[in-house]
Amino acid sequence: MIRFISFEGGDGSGKTTQLKLLESYLVSKGMACCCTREPGGTTLGRMLRKVLLEVDQKEISSPAELFLYLADRAQHVQEVVSPALERGTMVLCDRFSDSTLAYQGFGRGIELDLLRRLNRLASCGLIPDLTFLLDCPVDVGLWRIRKQVTAGLRSGASAKAERPLGQDRFEQEEIEFHERVRRGFLDLARAEPDRFCVVDALGSIEQVHKEIKRIVDERLAAQHNAK
Ligand code: TYD
Repeated sequence: MIRFISFEGGDGSGKTTQLKLLESYLVSKGMACCCTREPGGTTLGRMLRKVLLEVDQKEISSPAELFLYLADRAQHVQEVVSPALERGTMVLCDRFSDSTLAYQGFGRGIELDLLRRLNRLASCGLIPDLTFLLDCPVDVGLWRIRKQVTAGLRSGASAKAERPLGQDRFEQEEIEFHERVRRGFLDLARAEPDRFCVVDALGSIEQVHKEIKRIVDERLAAQHNAK
């Protein structure tokens, strides 16, 4: 049964665009969708997001950063994700627990088993039924971000809008950090091939959307036939 879909990937991989396109597609099929994101899916989360992504928060320690993401998740699951699932609404989430494993685990070096336990606590044991990993080379993702910022396309409700160059704390990390995050995501995907679908994010927006639609349609059909 697919009811909870997450989108994961490095910065600039196009998750947000693809999530919105999938939402439009599912709504056109008559399905109710709740689109949300981490960090920042609740009022508390939006405050945490601002703190987390501000450029001048460079001194934030890795454990402090971790606890802020977990706090965001705990509130988000309780206030948004679980109630939506209980109503029978499909949930599309821009990042979830896998981002913590990739960024705080593979990126910052915090032990993965510990992160898994903390994730379980924060998410009340909720795991996405399907996770799209939008994979692209790090330099391409960072270049896309820069391009969007220059074109004034990367803004919105996030704290990013208020920054001169629009690059957040993570986007300013060294390339090697982003490489570890990318390899981490791919490791996670290899370990759970039934849940993860790795999509080549180098394709055009339309190509990537087509691939995502194909996978979702396939899963929905399998679900229908199993009834
Ligand atoms: P976001 O705007 O969602 O990502 P993107 O720039 O790809 O659109 O920013 C969220 C940032 O927070 C992103 O760099 C990844 C990071 N993050 C973590 O480090 N750990 C987490 O658990 C989550 C949810 C996000």
